[in-house]
Amino acid sequence: MVAANWKMNGTLVTIRPLLKKIIDEKQAGIRAEIAICPPFVYLDEISRQLDATGIFLGAQNLSQHESGAYTGEVSAKMLRDYNCRYVIVGHSERRTLYGETDELVANKFACAVAGGLTPILCIGEYLEEREAGDTESVIARQLDTVIDKSGISAFANAVIAYEPVWAIGTGKTATPEQAEEIHAFIRLRLARHDDKVADTIRIVYGGSIKAINAEELFTMADIDGGLVGGASLNADDFLTICHAAR
Ligand code: 13P
Repeated sequence: MVAANWKMNGTLVTIRPLLKKIIDEKQAGIRAEIAICPPFVYLDEISRQLDATGIFLGAQNLSQHESGAYTGEVSAKMLRDYNCRYVIVGHSERRTLYGETDELVANKFACAVAGGLTPILCIGEYLEEREAGDTESVIARQLDTVIDKSGISAFANAVIAYEPVWAIGTGKTATPEQAEEIHAFIRLRLARHDDKVADTIRIVYGGSIKAINAEELFTMADIDGGLVGGASLNADDFLTICHAAR
């Protein structure tokens, strides 16, 4: 699976041709599952364009509430109205810039599942945490908060994205071995609760995936695809990454 996280980038003028190229190439034969996660305001238009293309739609965030007086927020049900299959939950930019705690992320994950969406749960450590040897304990804490809240069965319909914060938007990709080590750790952590879920869940990598490094990351045993930021804004680069995920 390769998911594009467009973040707060693009305008109609730039995303229309980008999307068209992705759709055309998918239909010409890309085997990997593709998901596009645009800003909320473009969901309507993109949802129509993706109809019957085999490409899935995702949102970048959702509210931790079902409905009500929460100005500016968007609920899981609203996302379902626009045919979203996926929603990114707990992206490090939301954790860092918008103060999303492990508990809030766990609540959003629960809302996504309850609302019929497949959460793409992002977890990952800061550089200081890695350098202090705390990577595994950080990952375990982020994961366990969600398991405690929703139960392991909720992960049967979820995707996990390992996104080391120091690799996001920095051009400093984790090496395939570094990423694989943590992906395997995540799978093992889930297997403590349920072997089948651990075996079948997709654990994707995110953090400076580029056309030139995607293939070697995707060959690792526990890396099931990618969550792509910057490189997903360029059709040729993104499609090269999608082809690499065969
Ligand atoms: P970059 O690919 O730009 O490093 O971003 C990764 C990311 O945050 C995807 O969610």
